[in-house]
Amino acid sequence: MLRAEDLHVYYGGIHALKGVSLKIGRGRIVSLIGANGAGKTTVFRVIVGLLRPRSGGVYFLGTELTRLTTHRIIQLGIAVSPEGRRIFANLTVAENLELGAYNRTSAEFKRGLEWVLSIFPRLSERRTQPAGTLSGGEQQMLAFGRALMSKPKLILLDEPSLGLAPLMVEEVFRAIQQINGEGATILLIEQNAVAALSIAHYGYVLETGSVVLEGPGVELLKDERVRKAYLGD
Ligand SMILES: Nc1ncnc2c1ncn2[C@@H]1O[C@H](COP(=O)(O)OP(=O)(O)OP(=O)(O)O)[C@@H](O)[C@H]1O
Ligand SMILES: [Mg+2]
Repeated sequence: MLRAEDLHVYYGGIHALKGVSLKIGRGRIVSLIGANGAGKTTVFRVIVGLLRPRSGGVYFLGTELTRLTTHRIIQLGIAVSPEGRRIFANLTVAENLELGAYNRTSAEFKRGLEWVLSIFPRLSERRTQPAGTLSGGEQQMLAFGRALMSKPKLILLDEPSLGLAPLMVEEVFRAIQQINGEGATILLIEQNAVAALSIAHYGYVLETGSVVLEGPGVELLKDERVRKAYLGD
């Protein structure tokens, strides 16, 4: 569904991506893991057109994305839940979800809302509450739910478990699997390597701008280098 080929990205003199290639097959959960500063969010920015690579390409269902605007890329069916859960604090939960539903007819909006609220019953209970009063985990669910409202083909999640308590992490990962079970393809960017690789069909390990390891999630979990670097073994 999506293919990134030999991406080179610079921030001024910093060579942030040094030839990154990855593939996301339809219906898959693909995890991209790596330490702080490895370049994970940079990959995300390139895919959604917020950043132009110096060289390399990104292909989504056959369309080259790196020359398109973010607006066009999103219209092609890619939704994002960015790092740091950017929700609108003064708007209610329901209003935040509504903002994710651009491009939808009102019937589609209603169905989408019911679907998202069924995945996140906590949001359903809090639909009239200002989003800023939600807990961190609930805000993460809201950002994720908002991304789902456009019924995307591909969802990019940048560190959905960041700062969450273990129980919330579990809930977010359960939701990722559920949504994937219903047909969505997912790129999961995470520092939480165990959780991310446990549910991933395939994973990539990024280190200072390069993919140093890749393979099925369960196999990466068993890999000695991954265990040393990310699991403290
Ligand atoms: N706007 C920018 N200007 C200059 N350097 C940047 C910029 N954004 C990122 N970088 C640098 O590029 C490298 C990769 O950053 P990136 O945000 O992609 O890392 P990350 O893997 O997402 O890290 P984290 O897990 O902390 O979110 C880092 O060294 C970072 O300092
Ligand atoms: Mg990041």
